[in-house]
Amino acid sequence: MSKCKCYPEVCEEYQKAVEKCKRKLRGFIAEKNCAPLMVRTAWHSAGTFDVCTKTGGPFGTMKYPEELAHGANAGLDIAVRLLEPIKEQFLILTYADFYQLAGIVAVEVTGGPEIPFHPGRQDKTEPPVEGRLPDATKGPDHLRQVFIKQMGLTDKDIVALSGAHTLGRCHKERSGFEGAWTSNPLIFDNSYFKELLSGEKEGLLQLPSDKALIEDPAFHPYVEKYAADEDAFFADYAEAHLKLSELGFADC
Ligand code: HEM
Repeated sequence: MSKCKCYPEVCEEYQKAVEKCKRKLRGFIAEKNCAPLMVRTAWHSAGTFDVCTKTGGPFGTMKYPEELAHGANAGLDIAVRLLEPIKEQFLILTYADFYQLAGIVAVEVTGGPEIPFHPGRQDKTEPPVEGRLPDATKGPDHLRQVFIKQMGLTDKDIVALSGAHTLGRCHKERSGFEGAWTSNPLIFDNSYFKELLSGEKEGLLQLPSDKALIEDPAFHPYVEKYAADEDAFFADYAEAHLKLSELGFADC
């Protein structure tokens, strides 16, 4: 069961700015072909949330040089810089809302599911400690430590969210890995799961953390399900991304 959420009230002017900003982001992300980087930015902002201490999370701290300097965030300075001219047009919005909105729009403009967006996140001034995002060289235990124990998500969320690797690629100078997971890295579909099941192929990439999804007996059935049924993937992805984008936000 999902928890009851009380979202803060935002004024009409704020809500209007959200709608207008969403339209600007659609055009901008499509023009720049930067959807993968935007999704990674939103995810790395939110994925630092720690349920025990209620620190980290999607609260706009990614703009601080300190957080951008975390090893896992290599390359995200580009996203922050690209987004800044748009943010300047919407001074009323918090960075917290703005980065999460960019992630949601990026999924949408590449053909992925629509993800509800609830505004009202406040900006925090304190970046999280380094070391909370997952390590691509590790397996299922590590993924559960990060996503379940630290962030408060589930096995299903881990598999569904990993499907975002349908977009984008690894850059040697950022993560040390090189290559894309799918042959259409600007299209959001279920091809990540199909590629995972078809095994390693020339030109396409599988990280140890991706392979963990086929090797772990509890993760594997979700991979099969999402490879066979894109609608099921989209439904679970939208639910998981919504939860990710709202970690630490509006819990009652
Ligand atoms: C399950 C644990 C995960 C690990 C270990 C992981 C690891 C990585 C790595 C190593 C890269 C390459 C970065 C680069 O070199 O540019 C990457 C890229 C990416 N990740 Fe993940 N990731 C994980 C989960 C997620 C999740 C949950 C999402 C979103 C919901 C996501 C979205 C992306 C996207 C869109 C890119 C492509 C970025 C680009 O093309 O610039 N990842 N990830």
